[in-house]
Amino acid sequence: MQQPIRPRRNRKMAGVRDLIRETTLTTHDLLLPLFLLEGQGKKIEVSSMPGIYRYSIDGILKEIEEAMLLGIKAFDVFPVVPETLKDKTASYSWAEDNFYLHALSSIKQHFPEAVVMTDVAMDPYSSDGHDGLVIDGEIVNDATLDILARMAVAQAQAGADIIGPSDMMDGRVGAIRAALDAAHFTQVSIMSYTAKYASGFYGPFRDALDSAPKFGDKKTYQMDPANRLEALREMELDTREGADMLMVKPALAYLDVIRLLKEHSQLPITAYNVSGEYAMLKAAAERGWLDYERVMMETLLSIKRAGADVILTYHAKEAAKLLR
Ligand code: PBG
Repeated sequence: MQQPIRPRRNRKMAGVRDLIRETTLTTHDLLLPLFLLEGQGKKIEVSSMPGIYRYSIDGILKEIEEAMLLGIKAFDVFPVVPETLKDKTASYSWAEDNFYLHALSSIKQHFPEAVVMTDVAMDPYSSDGHDGLVIDGEIVNDATLDILARMAVAQAQAGADIIGPSDMMDGRVGAIRAALDAAHFTQVSIMSYTAKYASGFYGPFRDALDSAPKFGDKKTYQMDPANRLEALREMELDTREGADMLMVKPALAYLDVIRLLKEHSQLPITAYNVSGEYAMLKAAAERGWLDYERVMMETLLSIKRAGADVILTYHAKEAAKLLR
């Protein structure tokens, strides 16, 4: 049989495969999320995320130092706020003595070259456990914007390089951009959670932060997993409102949405490989059902191949070790 065209010739040896490889994952693509506890000397594992710990600031600084030695340069810090400090309006998020804001300053002091990203949403500080302000059982949009803007300015003041609005309120990118600019933080970036879906894959994260909603769910603000065009609509709005980078979240069940935004936007696309995605691989590995390192690298590569320029992932340190 004549077979002039044989794709296998391009796979015949490692050297050829290396030459023609289309996608390469590098440590520079990775952004490591971290969970911050109040106080000193604390380290508590997240039970649904083996290998991931909540640290007080001393431990966070050590984690960042280790990660930077591995070549990771960017970090997204989330606060675990004690229940007693939560209220309806998330007022602790901009309080003078806020341990999270102090920690951000301390990170920037120790590691000026580290890219520090923050989370803007009410849920870690809200007694209702929602990302927006709750009035009579409803998540109120426009009144939430003032709160988010105030939170973002407080984080910028503390030294944040990138603000990450994860709340999905309408108009929040514009409101935050205007507030940052008015406070002369024109150089502080916004990585918008553009297409954030109402997903079951956030479960372990809510365990880590004790931030699960006290009633209802997040479906009136996070996107319906069935929708694609709506992601384009959110993309257009966030772009017009001044976002510097756009995020798709979660990553794995939404690779098509990552590709969609990559093909339609001129902005860098980021993907959040979320807590539940991390937990799935860890659980299967613990049972000996999957080769953890292999599927982790395959997973991260698939997110990059789909079109993500940046990947927020709890695997960042493990992956960086393998990439060295
Ligand atoms: C909260 C927020 C969530 C995550 C990041 N910011 C959870 C949620 O929306 O309920 C999830 C991250 C993860 O699962 O790793 N605004």
